[in-house]
Amino acid sequence: MQRNHNLIDSEDIPTNLSANPEFQNVVRQAVSRRGFLRSGTGLTAAMFLGLGGGLAAGCATAGRAGGGSSLMGFQAIPASTADALQVAPGYSAHVLAPWGTPLIDGAPAFGGDGSEDAAAQALQVGDNHDGMHYFPINGQSNEGLLVVNHEYSTVDEKTGTYVWLFGTKGADVKARWGKDHVHKSMNAHGVSVIHIRKNAQGQWDIVPDSAYNRRITALSEMEMAGPAAGDVLLQTRGDPSGRRVQGTFNNCGSGFTPWGTYLTCEENFNNYFGTTGGADRRSAALRRYGISPKESLYQWEKHEARFDYVQEPNESNRFGWIVEIDPFDPSSVPKKRTALGRFKHENAAFTLTSDGRAVVYMGDDQANDYIYKFVSDGRYVQGGDNSGLLDQGRLYVARFDAGKTTGDFAGTGEWLLLDKQVNPRLQADRSFANQAAVLVHARMAADVLGATKMDRPEWVAVHPKTGEVYVTLTNNPGRTVADEANPRARNIYGQIVRWRETGHDAAATTFEWDIFVLAGNPNVYSDRSNPRSGTANVTADNAFNSPDGLAFDADGRLWIETDGGYSNQGEYAGQGNNMMLCADPATREIRRFLVGPRECEVTGITFTPDYRTMFINIQHPGEAGDSHWPSGGQGLPRSATVVITKDDGGVIGT
Ligand code: FEO
Ligand code: CA
Ligand code: CA
Ligand code: CA
Repeated sequence: MQRNHNLIDSEDIPTNLSANPEFQNVVRQAVSRRGFLRSGTGLTAAMFLGLGGGLAAGCATAGRAGGGSSLMGFQAIPASTADALQVAPGYSAHVLAPWGTPLIDGAPAFGGDGSEDAAAQALQVGDNHDGMHYFPINGQSNEGLLVVNHEYSTVDEKTGTYVWLFGTKGADVKARWGKDHVHKSMNAHGVSVIHIRKNAQGQWDIVPDSAYNRRITALSEMEMAGPAAGDVLLQTRGDPSGRRVQGTFNNCGSGFTPWGTYLTCEENFNNYFGTTGGADRRSAALRRYGISPKESLYQWEKHEARFDYVQEPNESNRFGWIVEIDPFDPSSVPKKRTALGRFKHENAAFTLTSDGRAVVYMGDDQANDYIYKFVSDGRYVQGGDNSGLLDQGRLYVARFDAGKTTGDFAGTGEWLLLDKQVNPRLQADRSFANQAAVLVHARMAADVLGATKMDRPEWVAVHPKTGEVYVTLTNNPGRTVADEANPRARNIYGQIVRWRETGHDAAATTFEWDIFVLAGNPNVYSDRSNPRSGTANVTADNAFNSPDGLAFDADGRLWIETDGGYSNQGEYAGQGNNMMLCADPATREIRRFLVGPRECEVTGITFTPDYRTMFINIQHPGEAGDSHWPSGGQGLPRSATVVITKDDGGVIGT
């Protein structure tokens, strides 16, 4: 989330007070056994890795426009400040499932003024759409389950007022804040499973009476799974077992597995915990995780005591995880996979080693926090029971080192193992009683190991053919000491870093890395030797800031979504609203494909198996009051999924 940038952006404020010297560091669908039967398209490891050849030859580029890339066939569009969604010529965009859309039987139609109560919101699509994935039914590109995160509901950080959830009456609601308001907010969070189908006109609709349609919210039953489940750090008065937890929230980016499950990533959970007690009584761990010292931003603790950290000091330990959901089983209980560590999870980029072990790359989105990797002990078995695969394995954190590599990349790096038994520094450190403590306090264990402080790691994506891994480092205005991978102090534009695992082995413990693009603004910094103008692949025509969402399609086009400064003034002059761009990883050329409406961010990205439909999300349009998208007129702005197709029916991006 970016939020009005005249206000505080809590992710910009580092909570990493470790002494890790920045200078030393210098620098498709598929399905579980049941899902497999449904779709008939379980993936082998080779297919998941893209070694099966990616798209067929018939999907090759349909023509070129501008630049030299043969991968991108579309014409770039200019920056814009219009309150409209714009997409490249020859493409169309349609709104699907905005906030408040009736989803479950009995749901009321969206009232238009935010007057729905908690019970109504529980049956409607949630707010502030973010990560998502399309799971095909029977392998189809015209019918599937779209699983969508609802990250948060916009609150003005200066006044503590909900901006749109209660219509334009947020300030009134704050004055008479009650339990139903808390529960409405809780139900606006979480995940929607939406059964969608193409109609006779070729447009996508929600299947209104589908048994698959489901809302998962901050009130839904979940299980803790993996090595930390049941540990004393996860036990509360409400759940002495440490294994049953209520809800998921601040579901940011996402991931998916080849066995057909969805991974939803709990990010800024800290903003939901506070105390009504007055004084700041946080422990060192609560501070490191940024728990609100007093009243929380969302004010749930006022009517739900478990969010008061003085009353339930361990409740926040039960959030900040990656949660696995089986979208094909509406009665399945989501599992919080503790083996993947606890931090502000952005997304989960899944790949397989050549011998079938699961690898998940993950960013911790806070200024000066880290990049992690999980490698499973067990191996994926196509059509087998993979339900425990994410419960046992090794968790690593990245250190980016300086020094020229033998090849074309800029530096080397090492994956540092977060294991209490194996790592002597963690073994000797009494603040971690056991491996569960290392996982619950993964940030603090990573501090001990000397991981590299990054410029807010957001999404990670794995190239389907080369296995190289890309990460967006969105920005870090507070950085004072630069290093090679985070080369600018006061970094307001962000960069994309990529790495290549040693031996092209996703389980390797060393890698080489490079900067793919340093975003900047040549409209403002016309001297191209100034690092604020960006690397050579940034031009006056494609300038952007704050890369965030990131994904590859099967051909290897890299799609980049932004969540940054949209003032179009000062250092952001000429960049307009947030946008989506497309890059050719080989030539490094970048083209603007889409521009969102005012004050939104563009996030979430998934495709049908034929890559002829792309779904993206528009999040928080009008977060500061200047948008009526998508309805126009005087309508409330609403986050929504947008369906993008090519007018000639071709593959998106060609
Ligand atoms: Fe939810 Fe870091 O974006
Ligand atoms: Ca956001
Ligand atoms: Ca962001
Ligand atoms: Ca994000």
